[in-house]
Amino acid sequence: MESLDDKSKRGRWTSTFGFIMAAAGSQIGLGNLWKFPYLAGSNGGGAFVFVYLIIVLLVGFTLMLGEVLIGRHTQLGAVGAYKKLSERWTWLGGLGVLAGFLILSFYSVVGGWVINYMVRSITGILGTADFGAFITGSVEPILYHAIFMLINLVIVMAGISGGIERASKIMMPALFIMTIIVMIRSLTLDGAMEGVKFLLAPNFSVIDGSVILAALGQVFFSLSLGMGCMITYGSYLGKDENLVKSSLATPLMDTAIAILAGLTILPAVFAFGFDPSEGPGLLFVTLPSVFSKMPFGNFFAFIFFTLVFFAALTSAISLLEVTVAYLVDQFNWNRKKATFAMTFVIFLIGAAASLGLGIWDHITVLPGKDIFDSLDFTASNILLPLGGMLMSIFIGWFWGLDNAIREVTNEGTLPFKFAPVWGFLIKYVAPIAIALVFLESTGLLNVIKKLF
Ligand code: PHE
Repeated sequence: MESLDDKSKRGRWTSTFGFIMAAAGSQIGLGNLWKFPYLAGSNGGGAFVFVYLIIVLLVGFTLMLGEVLIGRHTQLGAVGAYKKLSERWTWLGGLGVLAGFLILSFYSVVGGWVINYMVRSITGILGTADFGAFITGSVEPILYHAIFMLINLVIVMAGISGGIERASKIMMPALFIMTIIVMIRSLTLDGAMEGVKFLLAPNFSVIDGSVILAALGQVFFSLSLGMGCMITYGSYLGKDENLVKSSLATPLMDTAIAILAGLTILPAVFAFGFDPSEGPGLLFVTLPSVFSKMPFGNFFAFIFFTLVFFAALTSAISLLEVTVAYLVDQFNWNRKKATFAMTFVIFLIGAAASLGLGIWDHITVLPGKDIFDSLDFTASNILLPLGGMLMSIFIGWFWGLDNAIREVTNEGTLPFKFAPVWGFLIKYVAPIAIALVFLESTGLLNVIKKLF
């Protein structure tokens, strides 16, 4: 595969497989392994998973195809793509860049935690890990956050091709296999079945506006949607590729990995008597207990956290790349300067987010939310769904379904049986569903209901 950042000659995926691996690299990350299990844990388990799956089905696939087709059609990244299709919509690309920027600043803090756990498992002290004490500290977590951002910087500056892509083709399948091994250990613990029931048997009565908003935000986060990341990746697709096939494959893989991660973490939560609504620490407190019950536990832990690290890195790269490409494309910055500047600012905001879990935990940005949670909530639950909603409105109502379908079918040469269904979903279902979730979760829906 050619370099993604080759400005003079735009890169191309050499094959559909290359695209699928890169898109999967962006989508599969901490969202699946870290966020999904703890969100499910604190939002009613099966109820959350149920809502999540419905949203993937109706909105996830629909918008994935939407983003990829805009990218392939314009052969440009997010901001450039909207600008080309309609000057008046350029800001929508900008909104995505902002979301990516905010996400990476807390994402890289968690990336640092993962590196710390790799170090702990290789030095054999994983079992003694006190996660709470570690993340509330002021120096260590910020140091690891810096290391994570530095690795990210080096890769994005050097260009994405070569090493990292080749590595992720091995790492991603390895992650899949390792997760299954750890999952089997977790599922065979005494009392594990409670966790399986919790995750898979939905209790519909707990579904409310905030559960639905959490699931909606998580679908966007996990599928890297709503910020133009998949537009950018789609722009490296050749005109003869089958867009439908490639945009079905990766959301399926992503969802499978999220469920596997849930089936790894939650059974252990129940078996060891942890609290499923523990929050962001869930992965980090339960897994050391699972590994301690495995022969060669430290060895497995090291391999596992290394793979988690890789999954996180391939996602972080796509986030940083979106923000860097913005400076390079719109302000003609050179790549080096843009990457340094972005990395530095993201490091600072991330450091504040990290301190927000410790000595700054009294600081709230959004009501009742520390800096870390405020960043996550604003980006994942507001900006991404908003970006996705506006994109579907743009395709369905402004640019037009005819144009979109012509692009999907490669000018009418490929069949697209589901074109009417997809058109209906992107024109009506996706924007209305997202708008309803917003209205419900802000309480505005009740206000409106009362008016009528
Ligand atoms: N999808 C990534 C994950 O699950 C995070 C991400 C979000 C990456 C948005 C790019 C854009 O970890």
